[in-house]
Order: sequence, then structure tokens, then C-alpha cells
Amino acid sequence: MPRTDRTVGAVAYSDCLIIGGGQAGGWVAAGLRQKGFSGTISLVGDEPYHPYERPPLSKQVLAGEQPYESTYLRPTSFYEESGIGLHLGRRAVGLDPVQHVVTTEDANRLSYGKLVLATGARPRRLMMGRAEVAGVYYLRGIADMLAIRSRLAPGRRLVIIGGGFIGLEVAAVAAKLGAEVTVVETEDVLLKRTTPRIVALAVQELHESHGVTFRLSAKISAVEGVGDQKALVLDNGEEIQADLVLGGIGVTPNVDLAVAGGLRVYNGILVDAYGQSSVPDIFAAGDVTNHFNPVLGRYIRLESWQNAQNQALAVAGVLCGESAAYAEIPWLWSDQYNLNLQYAGLPTGSTGEIIRGAPESGTFSIFSTLGARVIAVCGFNAPKDVAIGKRLIAGAQEIDSAKLADTGFDLRKAVAR
Ligand code: FAD
Ligand code: APR
Repeated sequence: MPRTDRTVGAVAYSDCLIIGGGQAGGWVAAGLRQKGFSGTISLVGDEPYHPYERPPLSKQVLAGEQPYESTYLRPTSFYEESGIGLHLGRRAVGLDPVQHVVTTEDANRLSYGKLVLATGARPRRLMMGRAEVAGVYYLRGIADMLAIRSRLAPGRRLVIIGGGFIGLEVAAVAAKLGAEVTVVETEDVLLKRTTPRIVALAVQELHESHGVTFRLSAKISAVEGVGDQKALVLDNGEEIQADLVLGGIGVTPNVDLAVAGGLRVYNGILVDAYGQSSVPDIFAAGDVTNHFNPVLGRYIRLESWQNAQNQALAVAGVLCGESAAYAEIPWLWSDQYNLNLQYAGLPTGSTGEIIRGAPESGTFSIFSTLGARVIAVCGFNAPKDVAIGKRLIAGAQEIDSAKLADTGFDLRKAVAR
């Protein structure tokens, strides 16, 4: 059985030290053991919970359909049995790559052979001028979810700032629980960062059918009130009363430690396709990375469950001496009511959009093309289209747009074998 930590002088030493106890951090630790790493492993996380997955926090867990413990990656016993030292509720604040030492907030010094930064991302805060607006709730972790859930009730007026994934998933749960939901979005359409317009319009219609109201192209000019009770003033003069305000206005990668250690950082920690940072013996995985994707041939930063797990496993493999790069087509999903949205590939730089199926039918997809090649697909209750789209993207093959649009044509026949 591998031991967890060794002590070298006054400093606890680990062959592999992982910072961040979220999904990526948890998978690096578990992946190392799965792949036969026999050295000592320690994981430092600032949340008090075991490594867990976040997607259910804005879905089944927020709705009260599942306990939050169901999000844990592994049972508690796993870490002890696998010789993985968990240091939870502890924040890493300093990094000295020359000495190979990380310092925690409580002044512990942890030295490492290899270091993996899996520090994730945190919600952007709503600002008025230079000041953060007080009393706004955000949803990133279990503690946030518990605070929000305890305040959702029939008739409560919930105002959500931001019509992205978090805002819309919470809107769906809150509407089902009987809350009065208003979403305030700066753009003229929901989900603009990720989603084709036709899909976004169908999503809006679905929410409206559940009683959610929207203020699009809206700017908040003031937030008044103390505690949870607030009045939001829009720049057109409208005032919206809220019993609870949630901000879902995007995330920012937690790069502070990487910056402290002098790593190259640009919209996340820059790493290659093996998770290796610009500094020897330091790797990174998950939301915090801006990583080179060999399939797309460029650097990307992803905020997705698939990336958090599989990039972490790839890094664990590299640390075990494997030579495989992390090379995947980006994929993610969102669930709202009975709607399943899925995305594969990235539409950046696309020259065309082909619709397959009719929005009125409740099942359709949008293929984004570059010339005659599919580079991304977004499915509205159309997981099969997305699965096949993923294969078309991977094959980089040319395809007739008429076939893509024809629901009578079996798309599987278009995939090169
Ligand atoms: P995180 O999960 O953020 O974990 C990072 C951890 O490191 C956190 O615990 C953080 O507190 C800790 N940390 C940071 N700095 C330090 C430090 N200095 N010292 C110690 N600890 C530190 N993706 C999908 O594909 N589909 C979905 O439906 C979906 N739904 C989501 C719903 C919600 C509510 C949220 C929040 C995210 C959702 N995601 C979804 C995204 C997905 O959960 C993230 O991409 C994933 O959690 C990223 O994992 P990570 O380990 O990189 O970061
Ligand atoms: N007022 C209103 N809307 C705003 C403001 C603002 N001040 N600032 C940003 N927005 C809008 C954006 O236009 C966008 O539609 O907030 C939305 C944010 O959407 P996302 O970028 O999808 O971010 P978010 O919903 O917070 O989700 C963050 O969590 O679900 C996970 O990993 C997933 O990337 C996602 C992350």
C-alpha cells in the first residue's frame, strides 16, 4: 500500500501533489492509481468536500431530487485505501517552482516531485463601477447550491443575471419549484457564447412556456436594497423586484497560484497537449487550462465535464510514463426541463449553418460548416445527430449539405469508415 506523504526536513513531500479538489483534481489522483503510479500522492482542496462533479448542482441536486453526496467521484474509503492524502478545507497560496514547494494559507509547506494545478474557475462577480454588488448569489460549489436551494420556494421572485448555462439551468429548476423567474441578459439572444441563434430562440420559447420572463439587451444600472431583497434598475428605467438575485455571468480561471509561480498564463494556464506547463514538473488540467488541442490545431480553454475528466486522465497517464496526447473533440451538454442540449466541436470560424429537422418538432440540430466540412454541431433533443456529428468532425470529411439537411437520409451512411 503506498503511503500518503513523506516528510523531508520540515516539509511534507509528495511524489505528486495536486492542487484543487474538484473534478479534474479528483481524476488526476484516481487516474494515477488506476494507471499504476506507486509514489506518494497528496491532494489539497479549499472546499471541505471530497472531489465531486458539479453538473447536478444546477439540475437534480438543486431540485432536491438527489443528495449532494451523489456527486462525489469516489466513496470516502477510496482515498484511504488508495493511499491518497486528502488535505481539504486548505487553500494553496504560494508556489516556488525552484524549491518545488507549495505553501498553504495555514502556513504549511508542501514539497513535490510533480505538481498538478487543477484549480478550476470561479464565477465572475457582478460589479457596479468598481464595486462588487453585495448580496448576489453565485452557483459554483455545494455550499453555493445549499444557500440557493434553501431560498427557492413557490412565489419567490428570483432574478437571474445572465442567460447562459448556469442562469438557464437554475431558471428551469426554480420555475419547476414554483418560483417567479426573470432572466436579465445583456445580449439580444440567450446562450450567445455557445449556441446557434435558432437553438437559443427555441430554448427561450421553452422557458417562456414554463412562465420564465426575459429581459434581453438589458443593462443593469443600479441594484438597490440590502440582504436578499433587492430592486434592480435597468437602463431603460424599469425596476424589477427580487427576493433573491443570482449571478450567472460567466467564470474566470483560478490562475493566481500559477501566476505566483511564474507560469505562462493567458486566459488560463498555458499547457501543451500533455498538460505540461511552461515550468518543469508542473502540469495542469481542467477548466483552468488553456491547452493545445491537436485535433483542432489550436489552444482552447473549455469549461466542461468531459474536459475536466479526460484531460485529468491524460495528465495522470503522462505522469505514469504514457505518451498519449490529450486530443479530443470538445463535447458538452446542458439539461433544462426535459430538454437535452448537446454540443460537439467548436463553431469558431464557420462559414455556414445547416439545420436538420424542424424546431417546431421539438427535435433538431444545427451543423456548423467550414466549406464542405462539419466543424461543430448543436443538438436540441437530438443526441444521435451530435454523436454522428462528432464522427464527421473527427473525420474532417466533406459532406453534401443537402444530405445533412435531409432527415430522411441516414447520417450514419455519411461517416467514413
Ligand atoms: P472545479 O470543479 O472548479 O474544481 C477546482 C477546485 O479547486 C475547486 O474545489 C476550487 O475551490 C479548488 N481551488 C481553486 N484554487 C485553489 C487553491 N489555491 N487551493 C486549493 N484549492 C483550490 N459541464 C458540462 O459539460 N455539462 C454540464 O451540464 C455542466 N453543468 C455545470 C453546472 C454547474 C453548476 C457548474 C458549476 C459547472 C457545470 N459544468 C458542466 C462544468 C463542469 O462542472 C466544470 O467544467 C468542471 O467542474 C471543471 O472541473 P475542474 O476540476 O477543472 O474545476
Ligand atoms: N448582465 C447580464 N448578463 C450578463 C452580464 C451582465 N452584467 N455579463 C455577462 N452576461 C451574460 C452573458 O452575455 C452570457 O449570456 O451572462 C451569460 C453567461 O453565460 P456563460 O458564459 O454560459 O456562463 P455561466 O452561465 O455563468 O456558466 C459558467 O458554468 O455551466 C458551467 O461550465 C459551464 O461555462 C459554464 C460555466
